[in-house]
Amino acid sequence: MTVTDLPTSDTKLDLPPLKLGNITVDTPVILAPMAGITNTAFRRLCREHGGGVFVSEMVTSRALVERTPESMRLISHDEDEKIRSVQLYGVDPETVGKAVRMLVEENHADHIDLNFGCPVAKVTRRGGGAALPWKLDLFTSIVQTAVREASKGGLPLTIKMRKGIDEDHLTYLEAGRIARDAGVAAVALHGRTANQFYSGQADWDSIARLREALPDVPVLGNGDIWSAEDAIAMVRQTGVDGVVVGRGCQGRPWLFGDLMNAFEGSDERHKPGMAEVSAAVYRHAELLVDTFDDENKALRDIRKHMAWYFKGYVVGGELRAKLSTVPTLDALRELLDQLDMSEGYPGVDAEGPRGRAGTPKRTALPAGWLDARTLSGGQKDELVGAELDVSGG
Ligand SMILES: Cc1cc2nc3c(=O)[nH]c(=O)nc-3n(C[C@H](O)[C@H](O)[C@H](O)COP(=O)(O)O)c2cc1C
Repeated sequence: MTVTDLPTSDTKLDLPPLKLGNITVDTPVILAPMAGITNTAFRRLCREHGGGVFVSEMVTSRALVERTPESMRLISHDEDEKIRSVQLYGVDPETVGKAVRMLVEENHADHIDLNFGCPVAKVTRRGGGAALPWKLDLFTSIVQTAVREASKGGLPLTIKMRKGIDEDHLTYLEAGRIARDAGVAAVALHGRTANQFYSGQADWDSIARLREALPDVPVLGNGDIWSAEDAIAMVRQTGVDGVVVGRGCQGRPWLFGDLMNAFEGSDERHKPGMAEVSAAVYRHAELLVDTFDDENKALRDIRKHMAWYFKGYVVGGELRAKLSTVPTLDALRELLDQLDMSEGYPGVDAEGPRGRAGTPKRTALPAGWLDARTLSGGQKDELVGAELDVSGG
């Protein structure tokens, strides 16, 4: 399908199920990997509402190969997760290969995604994250190795990337072709450069260009899908085979129900009142207690979700402050009981952008990084540090 053949808004969108290698995903929707968010608890809440693939938080290949307790938690799944999806991040082909082999041989995953989108300075400064695809030799080697190891177990391997470092140093078309030639099952593009961080608007035209450039592999679009209508609009505008949804579902796991309905042609949308949102918050906290096996840690974690869940709902300032420091499940129950459970759905105030935004800034890079498209010896040594103490994309 080319962009000119795309259905207009008057025609029904008839998107076939998404094929990721041997996996058929009936609802062509992916929960974007989000460090600190897409743990087993949140994935459960999301998949209870609708279909799709629900990707883990990113795990670094080095930590995984070393079997650190945290990395083993990151790759764990609930028994009823049908498509166990793990996102890996790594900068060294050999270590990435070992990590993929471990996931395959020990049967930890059904799908593996590789992260090439992290814009955080401490990662890009050493040549990792969104800076990495600039080095074509390294990028090619990582993707080829990962695909080769994944294919031994018949697992689909996908990549997720940004447009590039900045508008003058775009990498996505070349990286997409390399990944396609290496045999990936799909390519996902977040329509921002690393410089943009999460600011401004995702450039869906770049997603359309990638779709056109890679007619022979599924392309997934990512960036600024806040509603089911946005998802449909992205498919219409770009021709992608599926959508990747991140911040839009923070505090709104029911968005996956809306997305499923929309892709099935239904106008039905979930419009929870206060009682339902409050119940979801409590359940999320309970599930986090299971995830971490630590009430204190779970309650610290749920606090960041409060503003997202209650966006647009009437919650007094004092209560909001208490919710954002809530220490125990019992205290959470008491605070939630003070809310007005008769409040209905607030409408648009509960919708729209949420979560990380940031301001554009020049991406930190190793000295001379942009001078050549291949890796120098010194840069190789520095890269090791690009995988330490990392989370997020
Ligand atoms: C809190 C947070 C954590 C993230 N962690 C990751 C990650 O671990 N791996 C990754 O590839 N992207 C990560 N991202 C990027 C998202 O997957 C997604 O590409 C980005 O948020 C744009 O999509 P959106 O507009 O739907 O949010 C993260 C984003 C946020 C907001």
